[in-house]
Amino acid sequence: MKRILVVDDAELNRELLHEMLKDDYIVETASDGEEALKKLEANHKETAALLLDLRMPKRDGFDVIEQMKLNGFMKRIPVLIISGEHAVEVENRCFELGASDFIHKPFERSIVKNRVKNAIELFDCKNQLEQTVEEQAKTLEKQYRIIQMQAEKLREAHPFNKLMMEYSSAIVEVETKLKVLNAEFSQEYNRNPFESIKSRLKSPESIYEKLERKGFPVTVESIRENLTDVAGLRVICSFPDDIYRLAELFIQQDDIILLRRKDYIKNPKSNGYRSLHLILNVPIFLSSGKKYMKVEVQFRTIAMDFWASLEHKLKYKKDVDNTDEIVEQLRICAESIEALDYQMQEIRNKIDHSINSALHSDNSVRKVFY
Ligand code: GTP
Ligand code: MG
Repeated sequence: MKRILVVDDAELNRELLHEMLKDDYIVETASDGEEALKKLEANHKETAALLLDLRMPKRDGFDVIEQMKLNGFMKRIPVLIISGEHAVEVENRCFELGASDFIHKPFERSIVKNRVKNAIELFDCKNQLEQTVEEQAKTLEKQYRIIQMQAEKLREAHPFNKLMMEYSSAIVEVETKLKVLNAEFSQEYNRNPFESIKSRLKSPESIYEKLERKGFPVTVESIRENLTDVAGLRVICSFPDDIYRLAELFIQQDDIILLRRKDYIKNPKSNGYRSLHLILNVPIFLSSGKKYMKVEVQFRTIAMDFWASLEHKLKYKKDVDNTDEIVEQLRICAESIEALDYQMQEIRNKIDHSINSALHSDNSVRKVFY
């Protein structure tokens, strides 16, 4: 049976509460705040709830709560105030100080029993949850430390560094190819098919974590075989049709091998994520000869990128409040962004058409690509 502590200076009240609760709990009593605090100090671990009167000699109920706060007991033990006070300010002050419930005198048996039961159950649940979260945080921290150690080992290994150099070279190759296309478009059509390129090499920590998570061995060969996103590029375009045009021109190049195409623009993820992903084999030219490297290229519009960066923040911030609401808002935003992308594209097409018609007779002026 759980132990509860009833604190009241009126003997009759202590007896009444004892009588009401003795079948369900071991009921300890104290006749003032000082005695209550002494008993709590000795038995706080075994105490499941405190029923506390406010007006008492020596130390009153407010004093008891203040001291329990300092000792850290308020976090673990629900305090139910039992008082004849009917002023709203007093009740509010108790809740502000962290009381779980306020029962007015004269009290009624079933109300007291139910409220004590509810408060204890709620705190049990909260305490268990906190303990689980604490344990999980410890496990995660341990895992992260292992990952860091393994990553350090990877970083020091020569074959690993060589592999990273090869992936970096593949990024440079892809970047150069894209820049050449951009320069050509700029010259021929007075138009840039993309706004910017970002690139990144996956960190040793992320490589190790992904191999472990997917059950692959942590070796240089395994990285080469099983990971497709060690070398990653993100190409940010102005309009959706630029994405497809650029991607097609790019994969048509005869030294590029398309391994996989994931079109999250035509088939967005359920959260609203949109981008065109290409997994490619790209040749790099080393002193020992030609070598194909896997590269992941993500094509997005500015708006899609804006959305993905925000959504990415949500994914990695586990302590964000109202997550369901934010997820829903992001999904709605993704729809608006899609509509906006196509509206802007339509406007751009109209502008290009009218420029083209106006320049139709003048062949010396550069064409506008649309
Ligand atoms: P990863 O293991 O994360 O690489 O996923 P995957 O191999 O199943 O491939 P996928 O095409 O789903 O994702 C590849 C990359 O696209 C991710 O690493 C992210 O950079 C990006 N991405 C995919 N889905 C989302 C998403 O829902 N939100 C955001 N912000 N980025 C995403
Ligand atoms: Mg990835």
